[in-house]
Amino acid sequence: MSDTTIERTEGRSRMVGGLRAQDEGREVVLAGWVHRRRDLGGLLFVDLRDRSGLVQVSLGPDWTDAASLEVGHRVGAEDVVRVRGTVHLRPDEARNPELATGDIEVRAASLEVLNEADTPAIPVYRQPDEELPAEELRLRHRVLDLRRPELRDNLLLRHRLILAARNYLDAQGFVEVETPILTKPTPEGARDFLVPSRVHRGEFFALPQSPQIYKQILMAAGFDRYFQIARCFRDEDMRADRQPEFTQIDVEASFVGPEDIFRWMEGLMTALAAEAPGVEAVAPFERLTWADALEAYGTDRPDTRFGLRLEDVSAPLADLDFGIVRGALDAGGRVRAFVVPGGATLSRKQIEAIETAAKDTGAPGLLWCKRTDEGGSGPLSRFLAEGHYEALGLAPGDLLLAAAGADAVTSPALDAARRAAREAAGVPFEREHAWLWVTEFPVFEPGEDGALTSNHHPFVMPHPDDLDRLESDPLSVRGLAYDLVYNGAELGSGSVRIHRPELQRRVLRLLGLDDEAIDDKFGFLLGALASGAPPHGGVAFGMDRIVMLFARAGSLRDVIAFPKTTAARALFEGAPIPVADGDLRELGLRKEIPADG
Ligand code: AMO
Repeated sequence: MSDTTIERTEGRSRMVGGLRAQDEGREVVLAGWVHRRRDLGGLLFVDLRDRSGLVQVSLGPDWTDAASLEVGHRVGAEDVVRVRGTVHLRPDEARNPELATGDIEVRAASLEVLNEADTPAIPVYRQPDEELPAEELRLRHRVLDLRRPELRDNLLLRHRLILAARNYLDAQGFVEVETPILTKPTPEGARDFLVPSRVHRGEFFALPQSPQIYKQILMAAGFDRYFQIARCFRDEDMRADRQPEFTQIDVEASFVGPEDIFRWMEGLMTALAAEAPGVEAVAPFERLTWADALEAYGTDRPDTRFGLRLEDVSAPLADLDFGIVRGALDAGGRVRAFVVPGGATLSRKQIEAIETAAKDTGAPGLLWCKRTDEGGSGPLSRFLAEGHYEALGLAPGDLLLAAAGADAVTSPALDAARRAAREAAGVPFEREHAWLWVTEFPVFEPGEDGALTSNHHPFVMPHPDDLDRLESDPLSVRGLAYDLVYNGAELGSGSVRIHRPELQRRVLRLLGLDDEAIDDKFGFLLGALASGAPPHGGVAFGMDRIVMLFARAGSLRDVIAFPKTTAARALFEGAPIPVADGDLRELGLRKEIPADG
C-alpha cells in the first residue's frame, strides 16, 4: 500500500504527501504533526507533516471556525493535530515548486489538538542553512530525530530494499528460515556477546555473529536454498560502517559453485538498485582475483570508479642511489607507485595531506615527484635522470606517488594515497557505479606467533588446485571465497563451503584446534556434514551498509532506527545498564570488575 492511499482510517481520510492540484475542491480529514506555524496576523499557516510528506494548511476567519482559529494560534511545533478542510489551488505566486504538495493548500474548516507536545529538545523543522544539532544530542532524542525527513526516507528505503530482497529471493526459490539468537559461538572473527543461562548456572549462550553454521546445517537438512534477513551481533571496535548489532541478507544454496551465487546475487543487487533512485547495477559485474586486486589497488576492496592503478616500479628505479629505495629493494621489498595525470598542479600542502592519509595506515611515508616542463620537482626528483621519467610513465604535468618496502606496509598506504589523491586532484570517475567481485581470497592469513587464522571463516572450501598444499604451504592456498565490493566498500562476502567432515577437520586442525576442541566446538556441524551434506555455498550482505550506500548516508547510524554510538551505547533508551546484585545472584553470577577494566 503506498503512503498516500491509506483511505479512511479512524481519524483521517488520507495522508498528506500525495495531495495534488487534481484534488482541488476535495474535502479531506488530515492528521499529523505541526512542522512549522507561521502567523501572518489574520492568516495562519500550519505545515502539517506525516510520514508521507508535508502540506500547507491555512486558517483564516473566512473559512475556519472561531474556536479552531483560536486553537491554531496556540499550537506549537510537534503538536499532534487533526484538520478538516478543503483542498484549494494556491495562487501562482504562492506556489512552492520545492514541495510535492506545493501547488495546493488545505483550508481548514476546523483544527483540533490530539496531543500537545513538549517544546522539542531538538528542532525537527530547520531553516534551509541551519546545521544539524550534534549527533549525540540527536541520538538522545531519537524520537524527534526520526521525524526528520532524511532519516524517515532512509528507513522507508530500508523497508523497500528488505521487501525487494525477500521478493526476489522468494521468486528464485529461496526459503526464509529463522535461526536462533541464543546460540553457540560462531566464529566470524569478532568477540561474542554472551548471555548467561539462569537454568544452567555458569553457562552462557552466545549471540550469533552470523547464522553461518545454521545455514550450512539447513543445506545438510535438504532445504536447498535458504535466505534470512538475519540479525547479527559482534562485539568489535566500531567505525562508521560497523555496528555491534546489524542485519545481513544471508543466503545459502546447495549444489552450487561461485558462478551460480554470482548470477543470483547480481540479480538481487539489480533488484535492490531498482528501488534506490540514482543507483544502478548492471550484470554481469566485474571480477578480480584477490591477488590482482592487491597488486593493482593495494586493497581487497578497491574503488574501481577511477584508475590510478598501482605499478611495480622496482625495475626502473633499481639503479637509484637513494637509501630508502635501495634499502627496500635489498630487504626483498618493492617500490610501487601510481601516476596522477595532471597532478603536478597539486600544492605541497595537498601532497602532504595525501601522505598523511598514507601514514595513518602505519607506513613511514610516501615518495613523490612531479614532472614539469623544466625537469622535475619533489623529494624523489633529485635522484632521477630524464630517462627515469619515461620509464615511470610520467608525462610533463604528472605527479608520481610511490611507496617502498614490504607489500604488507605499502599496500594499505598506497590504497589510502590513491583515494586521497583522486579527491585532491579531482580525477573524474570513469563510472558512477562500480560493482566488483573479488575472488579467490586466501583461506588463511598469518596470525600471532606463526599461528594461522581464517581469512574469512573456517568453513571456506580450499581451491581444488591448491588442496595438495593445504598442510605444506597453507598460506598459499586460495579459497573459493569472494567479496562483493561497491564503489570501494565491502557489501558482502561468501564462499563455497567445505561439505566433507574430514576436510573440515583438517582445516580446523591447521587453525590450531585439537580434535577434542574441534568436537566440542564444531561437533554439531561435523555431524551434519557427515550425515550427507550436499556441496553448498552462499554469501551474506550487510543490509545496513547497502542502505547506507544507496541512501548516500554518512553513517550506519543514519539507516538504523535505534543505533549504538561509537562508544557502544544506546543513548535513547539508555543501555547498557548496571545490573542489581540480586539479579546477578539469580543467574549465579557475582560482579567483580577488575581494576584495569
Ligand atoms: P562477513 O563477516 O563478511 O561474512 O559479513 C558479511 C557482511 O556483513 C556486513 N557486516 C557488518 N555490517 C555492520 N556492522 C558490522 N559490525 C558488520 N560486520 C559485517 C558487511 C559484510 O560484508 N557468514 C559470513 C558470510 C558467508 O560466508 O556467507 C559472514 O558473516 O557488509
